[in-house]
Amino acid sequence: MPEFIDSILKEHRIFFPSEEFKRKAIIKSMAEYSKLYKKSVENPEAFWSGMAQQLDWLKKWDVVLRNDAGFFKWFEGGYLNVSCNCLDRIIKSGKKDKIAFIWEPESGESKTYTYGQLLKEVCRFANVLKKKGVQRGHVVEIYLPMIPELPIAMLACARIGAIHSVVFAGFSYDALKDRIQDSNAELLITADGSFRNGKVFPLKGNADAALKECPTIKNVVVVKRTGSSVNMQNSRDYWWHELIKEKDIKDFCEPERMHSEESLFILYTSGTTGKPKGILHTQAGYLLYVYQTFKWIFDIKDKDVYFCTADIGWITGHSYIVYGPLSNGATVVMYEGSPTFPKPDRFWRIVEKHKVTIFYTAPTAIRALAKEGDEWPSRCNLSSLRLLGTVGEPINPEAWVWYHKVIGKDKCPVVDTWWQTETGGILITPLPGATPLKPGSATKPFFGIVADVLREDGSKANADEGGYLVIRNPWPGMLRTVWNNPDRYKHTYFEKFGVYLTGDTAKIDKDGYFWIMGRIDDVIKVAGHRIGSAEVESSLVSHAAVAEAAVVPYPHEIKGQAIYAFVVLKNGIKKNDELKEGLKKHVADHVGPIAKPDKIQFADDLPKTRSGKIMRRILKVIAEGSTDYGNIMTLADPGVVEVLAKNMVK
Ligand code: PRX
Repeated sequence: MPEFIDSILKEHRIFFPSEEFKRKAIIKSMAEYSKLYKKSVENPEAFWSGMAQQLDWLKKWDVVLRNDAGFFKWFEGGYLNVSCNCLDRIIKSGKKDKIAFIWEPESGESKTYTYGQLLKEVCRFANVLKKKGVQRGHVVEIYLPMIPELPIAMLACARIGAIHSVVFAGFSYDALKDRIQDSNAELLITADGSFRNGKVFPLKGNADAALKECPTIKNVVVVKRTGSSVNMQNSRDYWWHELIKEKDIKDFCEPERMHSEESLFILYTSGTTGKPKGILHTQAGYLLYVYQTFKWIFDIKDKDVYFCTADIGWITGHSYIVYGPLSNGATVVMYEGSPTFPKPDRFWRIVEKHKVTIFYTAPTAIRALAKEGDEWPSRCNLSSLRLLGTVGEPINPEAWVWYHKVIGKDKCPVVDTWWQTETGGILITPLPGATPLKPGSATKPFFGIVADVLREDGSKANADEGGYLVIRNPWPGMLRTVWNNPDRYKHTYFEKFGVYLTGDTAKIDKDGYFWIMGRIDDVIKVAGHRIGSAEVESSLVSHAAVAEAAVVPYPHEIKGQAIYAFVVLKNGIKKNDELKEGLKKHVADHVGPIAKPDKIQFADDLPKTRSGKIMRRILKVIAEGSTDYGNIMTLADPGVVEVLAKNMVK
């Protein structure tokens, strides 16, 4: 077991919310949590339909929940519009001039959008999309950096009933191409480039390369961000700023009346094998779930300034930068860049500048910033902070305690929120005014969520016994299917136990606290980003020198996990460091820099079963520097293991 997971499981400290925090919190005690939790799981339909009254409906639903042969439907017969619930509804409540977004670019010249301004921008762009022929049910691919046009484009799609599919701007052309091809998108929104660490990244160049193999894309809208010169193809590529200014583009766009179960967005994520899966989320259930989780877990108040450091290209940004906060009428800081550029105080400067009260980030960033030393945060005024959050990977107790002490000054609760692209919103989490915190534990299930840990045979694990983390009941924010692949939905998530299989292992302690231990599949969490080994492997084998490749995670002090690749070269190819660097660059260029292996080991052979299946389990043990291989006698050639272990890259 990697050392940091081991240290999580040995943690015993408990931190209680302060009396002051409790007094002002929406949920104020464990007694209140337990009472409401009991109600929510005893009668989830009554619970969720009660919560759903808070949204603006064009028509109320007929049925709260229906199981359609394993595909769950929420609020059928109901109609609403998600963008109206995030904008028009908030404006109607008197918050037209409240700031919705504070955008903090790398240059530091921040820009704000009130709810009123945001609605106008969204409507204008929605009208542009319509003019370009986008209709309800069409897929729009969005490949943008962290600029305001990204949430504007998403909300514009929601307004007209188009389905957005956002691709993280850190991905490169092969990843973009695969996602466009699977979603059959017909319009792409991108930018001339993006800034990161003072450098310019050629988004449009990547898009052009991908589009050579994406015939479904008819139009491309390009945001001018960096001013780099780009190729604009006649009758296909258009500038955002020109389209938006055309005379017939109006300031208001009539919202589409969307059925609860029509598609809202697709977001691709990595699974066990094969290409990434298009996770599909629909309208009402998703909106309700992110609305309610955001409200209670972040204990949101009208005056709060909430800063989530995630990229909108991942689910955290969808749910907790865009839909959850806006539907609550919150003020959200979105930033462009990285935590350590130009200096390791980037986050703390932003907190000071905008008087951020709630801060949500990933353990990787916390570890990286803790390593830089306390002087960076101590030079900034962080006194506005009242609540901290973390997401994306297990947090080791040392990092948790540093976060709580140095950033939160021992007064801010830390909500360690466990969830996934598939779950739409947070499922296991503390409630900051109620839950006693144990560093490293995501604590308890949210309302309406019945989480459990099972053994291989499906029986319930004992307290403190590790096993498969499952969710026993449907919830409104859950994925509805895998885009174009309903069989994969059933097989991946429901076949093993008949209840939702998360893909994580966990244990529940004697107090009912959940401790997430890691993935059971071939997903690698590099700096909290979800990378599929299959995507990296197929990129490596697409290189002319490579015959075969297998990729596994190994523990990394800052990133949590990093990528270790075992590569078998084609006959006659020389093994040298230059080729290793070439292979790393190949993956970075094709899939994206985050998927780049940190370590590459050339191998003559890989451990395989007699039927030819690569035993990644054994490769993982080697990459961890351990010799705890288990039974290797079932391998076609057990001798391979020793040779690989001897040559392991330290
Ligand atoms: O392994 C779990 C880990 O991230 C996975 C989901 O990744 P993704 O779909 O990219 O969504 C990330 C943001 C929600 C999970 O299966 N994970 C997420 N949150 C935590 C976590 N592991 C431990 N603790 C968490 N708080």
